[in-house]
Amino acid sequence: MSGKRVCVSDFEVEAREILPKAVYDYYRSGADEQHTLADNVAAFNRWHLVPRVLRNVSTVDLSVSVLGQKLSMPLCVAATAMQRMAHPEGEIATARACKAVGTGMMLSSWATSTIEEVMSSTTASQCGEGVLWLQLYIYKDRELTLSLVRRAEAAGYKAIFVTVDTPYLGRRWNDMRNHFQLPPHLSMSNFSSASLAFSEKNYGNDSGLAVYVAKAIDPTLCWDDITWLKKQTHLPVIVKGVLNDEDAVKAVKYGVDGILVSNHGARQLDGVPATLDVLEEVVKAVEGRCDVYLDGGVRRGTDVLKAIALGAKAVFIGRPVLWGLACQGEQGVVEILELLKEELRLAMALSGCRSLSEVSRSLVRRVEFASRM
Ligand code: GLV
Repeated sequence: MSGKRVCVSDFEVEAREILPKAVYDYYRSGADEQHTLADNVAAFNRWHLVPRVLRNVSTVDLSVSVLGQKLSMPLCVAATAMQRMAHPEGEIATARACKAVGTGMMLSSWATSTIEEVMSSTTASQCGEGVLWLQLYIYKDRELTLSLVRRAEAAGYKAIFVTVDTPYLGRRWNDMRNHFQLPPHLSMSNFSSASLAFSEKNYGNDSGLAVYVAKAIDPTLCWDDITWLKKQTHLPVIVKGVLNDEDAVKAVKYGVDGILVSNHGARQLDGVPATLDVLEEVVKAVEGRCDVYLDGGVRRGTDVLKAIALGAKAVFIGRPVLWGLACQGEQGVVEILELLKEELRLAMALSGCRSLSEVSRSLVRRVEFASRM
């Protein structure tokens, strides 16, 4: 291990040295020229915090209720695929870390450990209290899709986050150049056939994952499929990938239990807005009828605070968890989560907020640029 890691980017620098190039490229990349990738992070600097002083901040309560579960903080782990490429314990290490810190983990459909393995690894661990949710891709094969939902229900997962922004995979140039595919000892473990487990030998002269998505994922997906999914399960359904008020109003009309404002870590359509920039539009459109969450570009406790002030109930992180995993497995993910928790606690205290209920819209102000052309 190198020197003390004090911020998320320290973990990324170290992870980059550890990971094989094609793996680092896959995790890190956005689509096309990656404008949105950079903007997701930059957007947080377009907002100032406006602290209030003299408020006795000797204790600060970060706890929050998300989809009926009490969590230790409003920061959860987003689905990221194929985590055993980052560390041999992959998703199991992440789930254990979430439980130890008392937060929620969204498991990817494309995990390299099964739905059941991940759940039983957390129930085996005594310390902490976490919650698991399933991220769902809707496959052309609807029976297969439903079997994922049934398995999540049976194992004790508490919600389904259905991805709605991936009828096809975005163009990720590095993956195309690297002909990205899983290393031969790994597979997407929730599937038994080689073609669905993404473990075929050769995907041609392209990103293997793009070929996989074109073959397996259903591009006919539309709003009626949300109705279909809701009918199939008693679990809360959250749509992951909404970026505007029009779709937010539709999502509410179709009865979703939550909206995750997400541009898929900038990996799908380059040129879409940063998630923070559309958060308030979505929150206003929803008018409190369901919870709104955000992912994309969250790298600091102050980022979490700004998103909460703009109306998110909780935020999700993806890449920082992968960097923690690569650096030090379960302990690395615990460190990342504890680091952000501590940053958030300090940011709240320095802003005069003793609990999340005191974080209001008046805490943030859009930066006015001094010089305009
Ligand atoms: C998986 O969801 C990916 O974006 O590669």
